[in-house]
Amino acid sequence: MLNIILMGPPGAGKGTQATAIVDAFHLPHISTGDMFREAIAQGTPVGLKAKEIIAAGNLVPDEITIELVKERLSRPDCEHGYLLDGFPRTIPQAEALDKLGPEIGRPVSLVIDITVPEEELIRRIAGRRVCPSCGASYHVDSMKPAVEGICDRCGHELIQRKDDNAESFAVRLQNYYASTQPLVDYYKEQGLYHCFDGMVGKANLEKAINALLEEQGQ
Ligand code: AP5
Ligand code: MG
Repeated sequence: MLNIILMGPPGAGKGTQATAIVDAFHLPHISTGDMFREAIAQGTPVGLKAKEIIAAGNLVPDEITIELVKERLSRPDCEHGYLLDGFPRTIPQAEALDKLGPEIGRPVSLVIDITVPEEELIRRIAGRRVCPSCGASYHVDSMKPAVEGICDRCGHELIQRKDDNAESFAVRLQNYYASTQPLVDYYKEQGLYHCFDGMVGKANLEKAINALLEEQGQ
């Protein structure tokens, strides 16, 4: 069973690879960032709490995030596996998932980490445009949609994310190093960790990840 965690710094290409993986392996794409942005758009209590935190590039508190994922993973569409994009992002979140996974009969089976140098992350975030409807990511120079400003996958108009500015990005990166990077050792110790070079190009990265998933999914 493919119970996957996709991790990497902001702008590494998690969302981009997630889109390809879920299309190929028919898994639900569970992006906590997308879920928070949807909650913000709908003005739910979680959205109201998360709005300023996310705009500034900080992490939403663990209790709120863990609760959100708990509810999402218990839905029937996760019965045959799932792809977590951007969760866990702290050790307490990983520990909560270690408890929850076996409880619902779906423990994490592998962790995919995408690595990209900092200068390239800055370039990607500065030029990124996203689809607020299906979550697909584009870049104004290097990953253009077929029709400018329109999502190839679902036809929705593309937007720039509120946290894709220099100040928020610096905070996001700091938070990544301080809170998320320790998960690398955490998952290495569990024997679940797989590292991929995010600089090989979108299609090559997709192929490399696919090969691992084909092997693991058997
Ligand atoms: P989230 O939405 O998860 O943002 P993030 O981790 O900062 O990551 P991004 O979505 O910015 O980047 P990505 O890796 O998905 O890159 P993408 O594929 O788009 O979280 C947002 C916020 O929500 C957090 O800051 C936090 O506040 C909150 N939050 C979420 N989860 C939380 C949690 N668990 N706990 C607490 N708070 C949480 O690609 C980026 C760009 O690069 C695009 O332009 C794309 O076209 C381009 N690109 C992609 N792949 C390639 C490639 N291979 N080569 C060249 N260009 C590429
Ligand atoms: Mg993303």
